[in-house]
Amino acid sequence: MTVITFAVSVLCLLPQAASGRWACVRACPPSCTCTQERSCSVLCDRSALAELPREFPCEASAINLEKNRLKFLSERAFGTLPSLKSLSLDHNNISFITPGAFKGLSNLVELRMAHNDYISYLHTRTFSGLKKLVRLDLSDCNLFNIPDRIFIEQPALRELLCFQNNFRRIPGAIRGMENLTHIYLERNKIEAVAYNSLLGLDRLKYLDLQGNRINVIHDNAFQDLVRLENFYLNDNLLSTLPRFAFRGLSRLKMLNLGGNQLINVSRTWFSDLVELEVLYLDRNQLLHIEDGAFENLTSLITLHLNSNNLTALPLSVFQPVYFLGHLYLFRNPWECDCSLEWLKLWMDSYKLVRDIPCAAPSSVAGLDLSQVVFSSLNGSCVDPSELNLTTASSEVAATTEDRFNSLISKLLQQELREEMGNGTESLRNGTLSDEEGQLSAGARPAPTGQSLLALAVGWLLFGSLGPPDAHSCLRYT
Ligand SMILES: *[C@@H]1O[C@H](CO)[C@@H](O)[C@H](O)[C@H]1NC(C)=O
Ligand SMILES: *[C@@H]1O[C@H](CO)[C@@H](O)[C@H](O)[C@H]1NC(C)=O
Ligand SMILES: *[C@@H]1O[C@H](CO)[C@@H](O)[C@H](O)[C@H]1NC(C)=O
Ligand SMILES: *[C@@H]1O[C@H](CO)[C@@H](O)[C@H](O)[C@H]1NC(C)=O
Ligand SMILES: *[C@@H]1O[C@H](CO)[C@@H](O)[C@H](O)[C@H]1NC(C)=O
Ligand SMILES: *[C@@H]1O[C@H](CO)[C@@H](O)[C@H](O)[C@H]1NC(C)=O
Ligand SMILES: *[C@@H]1O[C@H](CO)[C@@H](O)[C@H](O)[C@H]1NC(C)=O
Ligand SMILES: *[C@@H]1O[C@H](CO)[C@@H](O)[C@H](O)[C@H]1NC(C)=O
Ligand SMILES: *[C@@H]1O[C@H](CO)[C@@H](O)[C@H](O)[C@H]1NC(C)=O
Repeated sequence: MTVITFAVSVLCLLPQAASGRWACVRACPPSCTCTQERSCSVLCDRSALAELPREFPCEASAINLEKNRLKFLSERAFGTLPSLKSLSLDHNNISFITPGAFKGLSNLVELRMAHNDYISYLHTRTFSGLKKLVRLDLSDCNLFNIPDRIFIEQPALRELLCFQNNFRRIPGAIRGMENLTHIYLERNKIEAVAYNSLLGLDRLKYLDLQGNRINVIHDNAFQDLVRLENFYLNDNLLSTLPRFAFRGLSRLKMLNLGGNQLINVSRTWFSDLVELEVLYLDRNQLLHIEDGAFENLTSLITLHLNSNNLTALPLSVFQPVYFLGHLYLFRNPWECDCSLEWLKLWMDSYKLVRDIPCAAPSSVAGLDLSQVVFSSLNGSCVDPSELNLTTASSEVAATTEDRFNSLISKLLQQELREEMGNGTESLRNGTLSDEEGQLSAGARPAPTGQSLLALAVGWLLFGSLGPPDAHSCLRYT
């Protein structure tokens, strides 16, 4: 053993250039292959290794040990490899790492140990000696926590991947790690974000906390995340947020709050998010959005409000109206009365909103808002009515066709008599009253939804433009 160590250190004393390319090949461990294009990479993946090779070429810059059966890493398990930048131990069966296992890898930049199902514990000194570590992947292991001081020698750490473990809280070890830019903690069992969990993370750009069990976020928990750009808080158990949860996060570009249990959207939440481009509020139980809630989102391009309990969306919510690229509103029990007329006009003009199924009033239930025809009386919008379906014909099961029928007959009755009555007196005694009777009684095979819709649309156009030729309108039917 001492002989080997001696040999290795002799090799490593040779200057890089002098050690030559041959050394990588010559010292290549059995069952590994070594490449020497540009730098010395040692490939030992998928080799059913149950133990580490005894030695590695000392100028190795990358070692790949993925998909073996390694169980244990002893102290200085890799010897001294001053050129090693990248080490992968993904997909092994490591259950214990001796403190100091990576000593001697003083220039290691990336360490990957993901998918080792039996790592449930890490000693404080596990990573000692890794002074240049920038990226650490511990995802999909079985960690419940890590010691608070475990990264004391890793000041340069920028990316920490710990998704799919068993963390119950955000590890205290990351607190104050000012060089961290990316933290992946999704799919753990984190229940809360304490006021101090994320302190000192001034450079953080990307924080993924989705798929946890977060039900409490304490005031000011995110106050130091002034450079955060992408923030995933979706699929947790949040029913509310602190009033000023995202205060100061003026660089945020994407915020995902989907899949929680939010009921109200407060006007204070998003007041500072002037660079936010995408906001997800889908899959909550939203009933109410406060006026001005989106007022300062001057960069917003996409807003996801689908799959909530919204019945109304007052225009004042969007005041003042900024350009929105996409607005997702499907799967909400929309009440398509006159308060949503603005949205229909918006849909018609910009084609940026689609798929707004109406749940009420019953005369338009099942229709999409784009198909609803708002009639106007004396210039003001008239709500579609609630129908009493029990009085309609017996086999009626509120099909779309029936709803069209009701809609049309209502239109014909109201609009015709009240709005166009004077100019088209003659019509009411003729064809039209027959047509009206047939439509509402449904005695004939019902016209298709399309033709009825065409009629309704045509009718409304005349209604608003004035009837240049009422006869052509009738021939339409
Ligand atoms: C992996 O390690 C665990 C615990 O050390 C052991 O129970 C299991 O059998 C090992 N699996 C394989 C495939 O070696
Ligand atoms: C952050 O990294 C820089 C250089 O990578 C280093 O000088 C600095 O000390 C690091 N920050 C901390 C808190 O160690
Ligand atoms: C939601 O807002 C409504 C109306 O402002 C209010 O009555 C209700 O208490 C709020 N609910 C929650 C959970 O904040
Ligand atoms: C929008 O920003 C302005 C200026 O910062 C602020 O005064 C206002 O309260 C903000 N609006 C909301 C709804 O928070
Ligand atoms: C939202 O709607 C769902 C299903 O329609 C219902 O189970 C839930 O209680 C509603 N939530 C609220 C806050 O009304
Ligand atoms: C229509 O407007 C006129 C004058 O503004 C008013 O007298 C009349 O009552 C209105 N009709 C209805 C049905 O509201
Ligand atoms: C609907 O009709 C039923 C029975 O005819 C009646 O009891 C009910 O009050 C009516 N509802 C409305 C909203 O008119
Ligand atoms: C309908 O005719 C009456 C009397 O002829 C007139 O007072 C009224 O303004 C007319 N209404 C419309 C909408 O033209
Ligand atoms: C329409 O019928 C009413 C009575 O039903 C009648 O008073 C009126 O003169 C008729 N108008 C025309 C144009 O036939």
